[in-house]
Amino acid sequence: MNRLYNALQLKRLYQLKELGVSYVPLIEKRSGPATTLPNDLGALEKIVSECRLCPLSKTRTKTVFGEGNIHASLMFVGEGPGAQEDISGRPFVGRAGDLLTKMIENAIEIPRSSVYIANIVKCRPPNNRVPTPEEAYTCLPYLMKQLEIVSPRVVVALGATAYHYLTGDKSGITKVRGEIIDMGSYRIVPTYHPSYLLRNPSAKKEVYQDLLKIKRLLCEK
Ligand code: URA
Repeated sequence: MNRLYNALQLKRLYQLKELGVSYVPLIEKRSGPATTLPNDLGALEKIVSECRLCPLSKTRTKTVFGEGNIHASLMFVGEGPGAQEDISGRPFVGRAGDLLTKMIENAIEIPRSSVYIANIVKCRPPNNRVPTPEEAYTCLPYLMKQLEIVSPRVVVALGATAYHYLTGDKSGITKVRGEIIDMGSYRIVPTYHPSYLLRNPSAKKEVYQDLLKIKRLLCEK
């Protein structure tokens, strides 16, 4: 809850900065509309579909909320929608998505439909560029709420962007991949993004090891 609260405050600060405000004396901790995102994924998805809080909303075709088992113990978080996701409104449906499905089904040996999949930003960054901090922090409360509702035991951060915004740590993905980061109610395992694997197939063997580790974590009581 604290992480959601902090993410919402950060979002508010970015909005104020956008409006030209450079100094905010005190942000009170109180519940208001900004801190009360619904505890229901359907209602949250509707809010996301109407979101206009960052510039990505101007160029998107569809928002890509996320999909999968709402009671999943395993959640995957990517960076943001690509071209095909922007058209379909579904996460990881392009080439990287096909590879992600194989990673889940062949290495962890569970169906893709049994996990939950989401992204740091819900709208496609033009030309698939990395989301700016403003875009990522504005969107992050939605992901934090999804995490709170789905309540997975293990979250796989796909690539540096997902790892960075989920943990606040700016370490490179090569350094941290395969580590297990305790976040209290869940654990994060960073690994390479499937798009990176499409460009660097030799890194698949390391990801395979990470996936086996994730499978073992899921079997733990
Ligand atoms: N890459 C991502 O990070 N997310 C998607 O949904 C698709 C490609």
